[in-house]
Amino acid sequence: TRPVVALSRRLPAAAARLLDGAADVRTPDVDRPLTAAELRTAVAGADALVCLLLDRVDEALLDAAGPQLRVVATVAVGYDNVDVEACRRRGVRVTNTPGVLTDATADLTLALLLGITRRVGEGERLLRAGTPWRWDLDFLLGTGLRGQQLGLVGFGAIGRAVAARAAAFGMSITYSARHDAPADVTGPLGARRLPLPELLASSDVVSLHCPLTPETHHLVDAAALRAMPSSAHLVNTARGPVVDEAALVDALDHGEIRGAALDVFEEEPAVHPGLLARDDVLLTPHLGSATEQTREAMAVLAARNVLAVLAGQDPPTPVV
Ligand code: GLV
Ligand code: GLV
Repeated sequence: TRPVVALSRRLPAAAARLLDGAADVRTPDVDRPLTAAELRTAVAGADALVCLLLDRVDEALLDAAGPQLRVVATVAVGYDNVDVEACRRRGVRVTNTPGVLTDATADLTLALLLGITRRVGEGERLLRAGTPWRWDLDFLLGTGLRGQQLGLVGFGAIGRAVAARAAAFGMSITYSARHDAPADVTGPLGARRLPLPELLASSDVVSLHCPLTPETHHLVDAAALRAMPSSAHLVNTARGPVVDEAALVDALDHGEIRGAALDVFEEEPAVHPGLLARDDVLLTPHLGSATEQTREAMAVLAARNVLAVLAGQDPPTPVV
């Protein structure tokens, strides 16, 4: 009998075809994310679950699935929505989709970095509002990137891909991480590791590329923002709760930093109203991996992870 694969969301055709070839696939018949109750019903009796970063995979969901569940494949690199320990205890494999979204996410990070430092969003809003304007020597001046210091918090695949792009713009690269990155990575970039407090105090742009964990929740809090230069910009394409949004609004109100560009939010899809009201903030709706090529590659990789586990093999990109 063919294994059952439950999807929390309809997948791109290439991924759906792969799964259809080897399993009975349960596809939701609604065109929106499933509620927690609907997800419990969908996964009952399934051998595999393909989920999104919006889906909470916890003890209750694993109980609802039943003991035959063998793999949870999330279509994302971040897996803070999955109780990995609970899965490990039950012998359920967890897989994510690293690698295939590195370039797309690094590209969007540069879009935000350029957008906030050159006031692209602000200028666009000004035109759309019909505000009178003219070219002038001091009209809407931003800050150039050459010679400025980028401080990367987290130096995994995405942080490194951002570093390579920023180095091409003439930025100097610093990073904070638990360990030194290998010399063949840091050498060509001239990247220096700094303790987080020093990185915050010395960077012109701080960009977040760490996973969301208990240790990184509100890593950028009031004290961290106060430590940054008043001319500095903050970019977050990682996970919303790494930044204390209320503290960020306060810091901007008091001129403690110059601006922020955010692709992710503490209470997604809600955005702190204090951020929406500000011109020194650039906002995008969680678009880090949002290219056609990348989303298809993520879904196909999730499908390959599922098929490997169901065939008794090691998945290509396991978390556990
Ligand atoms: C997106 O946010 C991801 O983690 O893939
Ligand atoms: C992405 O692949 C990362 O590990 O940063």
